[in-house]
Amino acid sequence: MSRFQFPRWSNLLLPVVILVGATLPVYAAFFVSYGFSPKTLEVGYQPTQPIPFSHALHAGELGLDCRYCHIGVDRAAHSSIPVTQTCMNCHANIRPESPKLVKLIDSNLTGMPIEWIRIHRLPDFAFFNHAAHVTRGIGCATCHGRIDKMEVVYQHAPLSMGWCLECHREPITNLRPPSEVTNMRLNPELDIGIDAQTKLRAKYQIAPSENCTTCHR
Ligand code: HEC
Ligand code: HEC
Ligand code: HEC
Ligand code: HEC
Ligand code: HEC
Repeated sequence: MSRFQFPRWSNLLLPVVILVGATLPVYAAFFVSYGFSPKTLEVGYQPTQPIPFSHALHAGELGLDCRYCHIGVDRAAHSSIPVTQTCMNCHANIRPESPKLVKLIDSNLTGMPIEWIRIHRLPDFAFFNHAAHVTRGIGCATCHGRIDKMEVVYQHAPLSMGWCLECHREPITNLRPPSEVTNMRLNPELDIGIDAQTKLRAKYQIAPSENCTTCHR
């Protein structure tokens, strides 16, 4: 299997020609998705959510683990957004009368889900899988930044192909023990170090693929 290096255009040309021939629909999807949602690859994209939910409070101060709300992030391609009942576990008793929680209490009464606005979204022709990263020791903070400090979540990384490939080519300095993936304070490069990371790489046989079909299928 040949290896393609980005962004060397001489190497890019051949695979792109192959891809165009083989998968025209990919291109259609590309233009459609860009046409309809140009904001999705924007670093800093920070829509106003229907409820002023703060990660800085819940994940930071209160110290809730990400997986309490984002169930499945270590088992599935997509990470779930919590249902109203998850919030009601606490807010049935904690400040149910707060003006900031009116929409939550309504949602609980009517059964209509809260319409959270999606922040991170790749074009449909690009495939991503959370579990493949989280179980190999790539932490949430590496891709999403210090969510535990965000009052309102914004997109931290470009999520572009170049960004994906940069790590797929050389993941080592991003590795941490899989048990630490939701630890927001840990900085793998500084706190783990290259020796331990080399061992982690060997232990989990980490060799991310650069083949087009890994992310375009
Ligand atoms: C108490 C529940 C809760 C906890 C705990 C929590 N989150 Fe969230 N998360 C939410 C809700 C609700 C949203 C949607 C609203 C928003 O964007 O703030 C969300 C949105 C997100 C998004 C943006 C999703 C998108 O639309 O693209 C990311 C990324 C995220 N959370 C990461 C984390 C990480 C990392 C942690 C742990 C440090 C964490 N969350 C802890 C409830 C939670
Ligand atoms: C583990 C318990 C817990 C869970 C689960 C939880 N919260 Fe909270 N939440 C709190 C606490 C504690 C406060 C702080 C209350 C205070 O300031 O007195 C709070 C505060 C808030 C506030 C600010 C209220 C105000 O009047 O300032 C909002 C809004 C909020 N939470 C929304 C949510 C949403 C939406 C969810 C579900 C995605 C959620 N919370 C899940 C415990 C929780
Ligand atoms: C290797 C980078 C990477 C890591 C690590 C990562 N994410 Fe994501 N996350 C993404 C990308 C890319 C998307 C957009 C996925 C898409 O559009 O298909 C995303 C989307 C999300 C979403 C929106 C729902 C979805 O799945 O599309 C949530 C919530 C989220 N991430 C939470 C987390 C949490 C919590 C962790 C840690 C347990 C985490 N992520 C780890 C890259 C990452
Ligand atoms: C910070 C490092 C990092 C970033 C950023 C990253 N990846 Fe990965 N990716 C990995 C590692 C490590 C693995 C696991 C490799 C293994 O198990 O050998 C992986 C695995 C995958 C897999 C699973 C392949 C399989 O065999 O099932 C897919 C798909 C994938 N990545 C897509 C993406 C996409 C798309 C992006 C960008 C949106 C991205 N990755 C960004 C490090 C990263
Ligand atoms: C690790 C994941 C990954 C791999 C491997 C990968 N891509 Fe991508 N690719 C993406 C993501 C994510 C996007 C969407 C974001 C963007 O446009 O940068 C994308 C976008 C594209 C686009 C749209 C144009 C552009 O640059 O925005 C083309 C064409 C493309 N890829 C071709 C390829 C070819 C050909 C290969 C193999 C040589 C390949 N990709 C390998 C993740 C990947």
